[in-house]
Formats: sequence, structure tokens, C-alpha cells
Amino acid sequence: MESKEKHYKEISATWRNFEQIIEELKLKQEDLEDKIILDIGSGGGGFAAGVKENPELNSRVISLDPNYNLEKLSEENANLIKKAVRELKSEQLPMVAGLSQELPFKDESIDLVISNHAVPWHILDSADKVSKSIKEMIRVLKPGGEIRLHPVDEKIYNIVAIIIEGVKRKELELKRREDLVIIRKVVMENKE
Ligand SMILES: C[S@@+](CC[C@H](N)C(=O)[O-])C[C@H]1O[C@@H](n2cnc3c(N)ncnc32)[C@H](O)[C@@H]1O
Repeated sequence: MESKEKHYKEISATWRNFEQIIEELKLKQEDLEDKIILDIGSGGGGFAAGVKENPELNSRVISLDPNYNLEKLSEENANLIKKAVRELKSEQLPMVAGLSQELPFKDESIDLVISNHAVPWHILDSADKVSKSIKEMIRVLKPGGEIRLHPVDEKIYNIVAIIIEGVKRKELELKRREDLVIIRKVVMENKE
């Protein structure tokens, strides 16, 4: 039997609020207007709550985090997550239990993918997970969409550069040419 918390260890008491997340991701108001936004590793759901508090943005956020699957957590950790889940539910904000490596969304359905202090930060021990996650982000992104990750340190920069090289040498396949541009843009803009 699969043990509990196989993918779900990253319980964090350091969830950030909307203002902190937009500052870290360098997001401006115009980046957030009229969008379907996917927040990967959304934790406390502060980003979704902040977007809802700014109805003039006319955007919706889907919060995705493996920890929303409370049944997979130990009682102690489930208690930490329950508050976030309760608040997202009470605000009727879309919330999905899932992993970045297998995003449960259709191709080209999201305008903006964000991941703050989550992916690939939390999965750097596995190049396979990082590679799958980046490709999944690109798969669900609408043409012309954008991915914003934070933090991008030297290690993440190097991993993403390897993915870009793999695509160039056709060892890795991505659907669209502009995907390369998107990855490069994300890395260059967020490199610390
Ligand atoms: C430090 S919290 C960050 C929460 C929030 N984004 C913030 O900025 O405060 C990291 C979150 O990433 C989630 N996470 C870890 N691995 C993940 C994966 N492979 N896919 C999606 N979320 C993941 C964890 O469950 C955790 O809630």
C-alpha cells in the first residue's frame, strides 16, 4: 500500500499573502487582468483570495496543491492545511488537489501559470519531476500565455537551461516553437 504523504511532505507555515506574491513574481496589475490563472503549490490560497478582493481585475485563480488532499496527510499535517481549505471553500474559490507533474487541465486552457516558492523549488531533488512539471505548465498554457516562477536561483536556472538545450537538440519535444521563448523569458526575468 502506498504510504501516506509520499508527495505531500511540504507542509509550510510560511504562506505568503497576495501582496508578497505579486512582488516576488514581479506581477503588475496589467499582467493580472482578464485571465484564467493557475497557482501551482498555492498553499494557503492567499493569491486567489487577493485576486478575488480585486474584482476590477476580472480574473479567476485556480489553486492547485497536493496538500489539499487531506486524506493523504497525517492528522497533524491535515490540521495545518484544513484552515486553508476551509477558507478557499467558503470564498468559493476553485481548488484542486494535484501535482505539477500531472496537471489535471486541458491543453491550452490557462493564461498565466504562477508558482511561488513551490515548483520547481520544492522538487529540485528530481530532474525528472522538474522536466515533467515545466512541460505540463507549457501544455496547459494558452498560446501567448505566460509562466512566472519564483525563486529562480542558479540551480533552477541551470536545470531549465538543460531543458531548453534538450528541446533544441530534439531530445525533448515541446508542441510549439514559442514554448522555448516562454521558458527563456521566465528564466531571464526571474533569475536572482
Ligand atoms: C512554501 S509553500 C508556498 C505556498 C505559496 N505559493 C506561497 O507563496 O506562500 C510550497 C507549496 O508547494 C506545494 N508543492 C510541493 N511540491 C509540489 C508539486 N510537485 N506540485 C504542486 N505543489 C507542490 C506544497 O504542498 C506547498 O503547499
